[in-house]
Amino acid sequence: MSKVIVVTGTASGLGKATVEKFSGEGWDVVATVRKEADLGVHDANPRVRTLLLDVDDESAAPAFAEQALAAFGRVDALVNNAGSYQMGPLEGSTMKQIHGQFQTNVFGLIAVTKAFLPTFRTQRSGVVVNIASLTAEQGYPYSGVYAASKAAVATLSEALSMELAEFGVAVRAIMPGQHATRIFTKIDVATEVPEDYQAGIESFFGVTPMTGSSPQVTADVIYRSVIDPSLEQVRFYAGPDSTAIPHAKRILGPQEYWAEFREAAVGRPSALWRALIPAPGAEPLEREI
Ligand SMILES: NC(=O)c1ccc[n+]([C@@H]2O[C@H](COP(=O)([O-])OP(=O)(O)OC[C@H]3O[C@@H](n4cnc5c(N)ncnc54)[C@H](OP(=O)(O)O)[C@@H]3O)[C@@H](O)[C@H]2O)c1
Repeated sequence: MSKVIVVTGTASGLGKATVEKFSGEGWDVVATVRKEADLGVHDANPRVRTLLLDVDDESAAPAFAEQALAAFGRVDALVNNAGSYQMGPLEGSTMKQIHGQFQTNVFGLIAVTKAFLPTFRTQRSGVVVNIASLTAEQGYPYSGVYAASKAAVATLSEALSMELAEFGVAVRAIMPGQHATRIFTKIDVATEVPEDYQAGIESFFGVTPMTGSSPQVTADVIYRSVIDPSLEQVRFYAGPDSTAIPHAKRILGPQEYWAEFREAAVGRPSALWRALIPAPGAEPLEREI
């Protein structure tokens, strides 16, 4: 019998690539999309059932889990991939935007996870994969709320991995570096930004790389993290800019690492930093700003 995986947010990007990876490896997939117009996105793939889910609606999670279980009669893994990107200085972001960022990236993810935990605990197996981000490890300016939401995802995953270990359930936090996906075309940009910030914003985004990894890079890492639930590891890094981070932290130590990162983030990377941290892949990035 084929194994079954549930993946949220699969209309594009990392979620779509994950659906393609697992179905290509012989898994059955329950894929979610947020918009009715995207329900046909996996129609050519007979291994995929596509369901509607807006993770912002926490009350929808239990019924969704039931529907997902009914689709193929079992669920072996869950990938919480759906996510959005709120950007801009904290002072210029509204509390509505900030709550919205946490609603999608954190509370929505938690509600979906909680809906599947009784099944995983009872069957004494399962893998929960949460898509965090490299930004969970280091806060870039003008993306602090996004970074904070992803840090919440990463530390929640660590705690949950210990809570669930005795039930045979593994939990992973995936830490993708920059990937060329549509997320950068849908940014929820801060709208009340004082003029004082403009120079800093322009200089920061002026030096941000305009390339990223292919979504398949992270899909491959997710696959590896799922097929071996015995791996005693929660954080999985994806993409050259991300996989280099733990190595750089070990070599530099926390203080020097932070000093190097601060300079690099504003476009003044040292020769040492350039040697340690490669560019984030070669695919061109579509960007709103
Ligand atoms: N791209 C990167 O550089 C990068 C790096 C690190 C982490 N990530 C994370 O990777 C995950 C996937 O993002 P991506 O880069 O592949 O971008 P993407 O192509 O925009 O995919 C995000 C998916 O999440 C869906 N989504 C957004 N809000 C949702 C909601 N409230 N309910 C249900 N689905 C929702 C989107 O649906 P719509 O199509 O309807 O908007 C889309 O299908 C996100 O969690 C993101 O934070 C991305």
